[in-house]
Amino acid sequence: MAQLRIASMVGARPNFMKIAPIVHEISRIPGIEHRLIHSGQHYDEQMSESIFRDLKIPKPDYNLGVGSGSHARQTAEVMIRFEAVLLEWKPDVTIVVGDVNSTLAAALVATKLDIPVAHVEAGLRSFDMSMPEEINRKLTDAISDFLFVTERSGIENLQKEGIRADRIFFTGNVMIDCLLEHRKLAARSDILRRLQVAGNGAARADYAVLTLHRPSNVDDREVLSELLSTVALLAERLPVFFPVHPRSMERIRGFGLAKHLAESPSDAPQRGIIPLAPLSYLDFLCLMDHARLLLTDSGGIQEETTILGIPCLTLRDNTERPVTVEHGTNQIVGRNRGKILTAAWSILDRAAGPGRAPELWDGRASQRILEILLEKFRPKLLTPAG
Ligand code: UD1
Repeated sequence: MAQLRIASMVGARPNFMKIAPIVHEISRIPGIEHRLIHSGQHYDEQMSESIFRDLKIPKPDYNLGVGSGSHARQTAEVMIRFEAVLLEWKPDVTIVVGDVNSTLAAALVATKLDIPVAHVEAGLRSFDMSMPEEINRKLTDAISDFLFVTERSGIENLQKEGIRADRIFFTGNVMIDCLLEHRKLAARSDILRRLQVAGNGAARADYAVLTLHRPSNVDDREVLSELLSTVALLAERLPVFFPVHPRSMERIRGFGLAKHLAESPSDAPQRGIIPLAPLSYLDFLCLMDHARLLLTDSGGIQEETTILGIPCLTLRDNTERPVTVEHGTNQIVGRNRGKILTAAWSILDRAAGPGRAPELWDGRASQRILEILLEKFRPKLLTPAG
């Protein structure tokens, strides 16, 4: 019997949690030959390999070693190197996930080689074209053949952009598949002990978690300074752990803003903004799962806190994931000091209620995606090879 050939592209940290459940699902299905391609957009051990290990994703079949660069250079390098892989291997379908530069680059290359593209996490829109991810989302969706949508807003967005209904599939959220699969394992992480905060077991501990990496928040000195000094006020009341993305650390140092950070966790100040190196997936999940509050500009964390029932303040003016506000624990507070602190005090002064899981965020999205792809490509599987 012929094998169905699937190529999957990943590049940056948030892609890895999305591909993991898909890779695991594929490994359960006979008759599929799968190759995983890592563009190398993220390459630090803590940004890449450590997550692969935690999620038991097999070593990529190809690492394109693209690394950092301007948007044009990074996207172009992924395109050139990925094209060579596709020409050599000729898959039947290419899976791309999320909205990073590697996602768009891979989708463009595959489409031009007439290889169908499946976009996982299609249809999300912030309507803010100053975000590189919004450009990547719109363009990737415009040229993909299978659009796998995480929330209903995505269906509407795609229809308004004129995408044919028979290309759109509401399948749920693979990032949540990953979270549900790993939550118990993450509970065994020793991160809380290492950070000297109580809270193992069910109870929430008295700390908050901050993540920041969006260019709009970290590339401008004034904006970053205002954000850090605002969070520093909150951090007078409870410690704020801050696993720092490499680009943010570069900016904090470059702008001379390290004064807002506590010197190191070993000072055990139990207050202040406490910088940490980027964490592994399981450590970060454990840290989120016991926090009183998350402050973030990440998209994925808005979704994860929704399922964990942890209050989330999004330090942006918009979200492409409105279901996290409607169903979940997410509040969009922007960069306004008064708004951020008012929301934070109100969360700290009351007990958090549980979040409500959005429709189809049930741990089975990757299964649905594979069922749809198999349905489409089954004739090929049934054709004798030769
Ligand atoms: C990328 C994605 C963003 C995603 C984020 C998650 C795009 C346009 N952006 O942003 O959507 O939310 O990943 O982290 O694709 N760097 C390192 N080590 C690494 C990777 C990056 O030090 O392993 C530093 C480099 O200085 C690099 C900078 O981070 O120039 C930015 O990396 P890049 O991949 O361009 O974008 P991210 O900000 O990580």
